[in-house]
Amino acid sequence: MEGIADFLDSLIGGVDLAFYSMAVGGLLWGLFILKPWDPKSQYNNKFLQQTVNLIYLGAFALVITELAKIVLKIWLMTATLERWPFPAFAYTAQFQAGLTRALLSGFLAFYLKQHLQSNVRSKQHWINATLLMLPMVITGAWLVHGASRLEDRGLLMALSVLHQVSAALWVGSIFQLLLIWHLKKQNQINAEIWPILLWRFSPIGMVAVLGILASGLPIALYYFDTWNAFIGTGYGNLLLVKILMLIIALGFAMLNRQAVHDYFLTSNTHNINYRVPYYIEAETLVLITLLFTAASLASQPPAIDIPHLTATWQEVLHAFAPHFPRITSPTHDALIAGEAGRIAIVGQVPSEAATAWSDYNHNISGIFLTVMSVFAMLSYKKEYTWAKYWPLGFMLLGVFLFFRSDAETWPLGPIGFWDSTFNNGEVLQHRIATLLVFMLGLMEIKARLSNDPNSKLPYVFPILSAFGGLMLLAHSHVGFEPKTTFLIQVGHTLMGLFSLILACGRWLELKLDSPGKEIAGFISVFALFQIGIILMFYREPLY
Ligand code: HEM
Repeated sequence: MEGIADFLDSLIGGVDLAFYSMAVGGLLWGLFILKPWDPKSQYNNKFLQQTVNLIYLGAFALVITELAKIVLKIWLMTATLERWPFPAFAYTAQFQAGLTRALLSGFLAFYLKQHLQSNVRSKQHWINATLLMLPMVITGAWLVHGASRLEDRGLLMALSVLHQVSAALWVGSIFQLLLIWHLKKQNQINAEIWPILLWRFSPIGMVAVLGILASGLPIALYYFDTWNAFIGTGYGNLLLVKILMLIIALGFAMLNRQAVHDYFLTSNTHNINYRVPYYIEAETLVLITLLFTAASLASQPPAIDIPHLTATWQEVLHAFAPHFPRITSPTHDALIAGEAGRIAIVGQVPSEAATAWSDYNHNISGIFLTVMSVFAMLSYKKEYTWAKYWPLGFMLLGVFLFFRSDAETWPLGPIGFWDSTFNNGEVLQHRIATLLVFMLGLMEIKARLSNDPNSKLPYVFPILSAFGGLMLLAHSHVGFEPKTTFLIQVGHTLMGLFSLILACGRWLELKLDSPGKEIAGFISVFALFQIGIILMFYREPLY
């Protein structure tokens, strides 16, 4: 069962940060943007109750995720060490700060429910809730790398907390904006509130981004000693992806700002009602993926600590170099024969068959995706309407992966299906990904065959793609493993980023009007093409 624990452990950090942002960012939103005590404000009670509800949900869920994080750690340690990790674990910062944070979030949740909820227009109650939030925020300092450094410990801890709070301000405010849009659609709030709060959020959003940069850059500079480490380690690789996602999120933020600015100049409501909400939805996808990537980054050893495991930039480039795809596979017998030596703890013998097997799987999958993306591009032309069934390729790919992914397990290998699925985090991840790919194809084909204009089915595709990307980024645990592991990881991280672009593009294609619709659709298909190319040229290092 430790496979499940390992998998959940890689996702829980992102879930935790999302709830943290909902609580912390939501309170800052109330204090600096909403200001419900203002007598001129046009907020009705129901709206303010819903605002506090969302913040309460964040604080309450944070208690559960903090406790779940500790339980998962105990579970994993017991499985790895084959003994109960107490009392030693009880003395670690992870345990003590985690438990304190859960307790403090509990107090906050209690105050929100019992006091702020019934005094939503009282400035003093908002300030009290924020003061109560502060100790919980500060405990975060003992849960980051900074806490275990020998030099500049205090500074690094403080910068990391500032970084987390700035991120929470941005993400938590975006959650609140989504709530407001939802209430506006249902005519539950005064329509004027939407543009006004969008406008007020703009400068605060900029402060959040400045806070992220002013804290994130010095931390990053501290944890890197060479430029090469930025490219050649798991830590650097994830940071690079984070910066790219920040640029995408800022792109959406700028489009929103422009639309709101235009509204106040021209009073034309088209953009703020028919574009901004969808940009915000896409921005949310990016920011949530960013949080999962941040959690994954924070669980990796900083680049400065692993100079001996750092790949050179030439090695990284080589991982992406075009090759002729491998279109013949070694036999299953040859693969199994090499397995004992490959996974031996002492006296490892690299297996050429295993490397060739993996290359074949990746390269054939790449060919599938590249061909599908070309069909998808053709489907935009009227004379190629048949090409719109390109997602069928996902179903075929799912079947291919089911047989080929984990050759030592059922149906090809001796290890049973359930045994391998639940006892090995990697196999479990492959199984989920395979199912995801198959379902992606099935749902999308059904969506394309449906004539119902109100069908929600088309949205499954972008949601599953975003989840796939998130899994690729959240499970980047190269840690202290050899640099060959990192060289495999680097392509997967990049594919995670392209999956996110695929998801956002398709989401916007479904929601926007022209010309944004067509542009987003093309970007989405192009991202699929890129994923296909990365896989088609994938070459696994021999190890
Ligand atoms: C130039 C942009 C950025 C840089 C240089 C940067 C840098 C970093 C670094 C070095 C860490 C790891 C700290 C550690 O190892 O203890 C980190 C963590 C984190 N980053 Fe960023 N970051 C950037 C952008 C962002 C953005 C845009 C967000 C979210 C909106 C974000 C959210 C976070 C969060 C929440 C953590 C803490 C993760 C945890 O402790 O579980 N960062 N960042």
